[in-house]
Amino acid sequence: MTTHIIALGGSLLRPEEAEKRVQWFGQLRQMAVLLEGNDRKLGFVIGGGLPAREAIDLAKTNVTDSYRLDTVGIAATRLNATIIQQTLIDIGCNVSPIIPKTTDEAAELFDSHNIVVMGGTSPGHTTDAVAVALARDSGASYCVIATNVSHVYDSDPRKNPDAKAIEEMTHSDLLQITGEGPLQPGESAAVDPIAVKWAISSGIRIAVLDGRDIENLENAIEGKEFSGTLVKSE
Ligand code: UTP
Repeated sequence: MTTHIIALGGSLLRPEEAEKRVQWFGQLRQMAVLLEGNDRKLGFVIGGGLPAREAIDLAKTNVTDSYRLDTVGIAATRLNATIIQQTLIDIGCNVSPIIPKTTDEAAELFDSHNIVVMGGTSPGHTTDAVAVALARDSGASYCVIATNVSHVYDSDPRKNPDAKAIEEMTHSDLLQITGEGPLQPGESAAVDPIAVKWAISSGIRIAVLDGRDIENLENAIEGKEFSGTLVKSE
């Protein structure tokens, strides 16, 4: 049975317009039902988004230690994971009732469930890295990272209006853009450099795309043509 690993950035759960929210959750459910019906296993790794940033900022009033701040961020990712988990259980998908705390545990849960939803695991990286580790541990060679930007750019498109979108690149090209890391608690990057390093060591291909477009996400999962960035080994 094919296993697909999908990282959903936390911002995807909270589209600005309420109407889009209903639509996005509806399309995500449809996609999960369809893929489950086609005998696929699905591993969703959910980011912390706004609640993570808010919680980390709040904790920073008293705490400076990165390990502790990361622990706060992880709690937010697990909150968001619970939202997706319950959303998929609600339409009758065979979803693990446990939100695993490690990617090993998640990989084992695939023995008894078609869908496993999780958030962060341990301090020092983001859910991008968790998704790559879950791909490695569940025997998938490919991991889709769905965010709210369309591609990886050669520089930060929020700061540089001339930034160019990249359609295909190697892991080491990506590492040049992201830097070596690690990121600070709550800090964001095109892709977490730790995720890129783990992808290099286990040969996992990564697709980066805008997860607001579920049809495009589904194309990437299915290995069809998609709009976004494909990151491969040399
Ligand atoms: P995210 O995975 O949500 O960060 O983790 P992100 O990719 O920047 O955010 P999205 O994609 O917009 O949601 C949020 C924070 O939680 C901690 C880190 O502090 C991270 O910045 N975290 C998360 C960990 O320490 N370990 C994990 O495994 C996951």
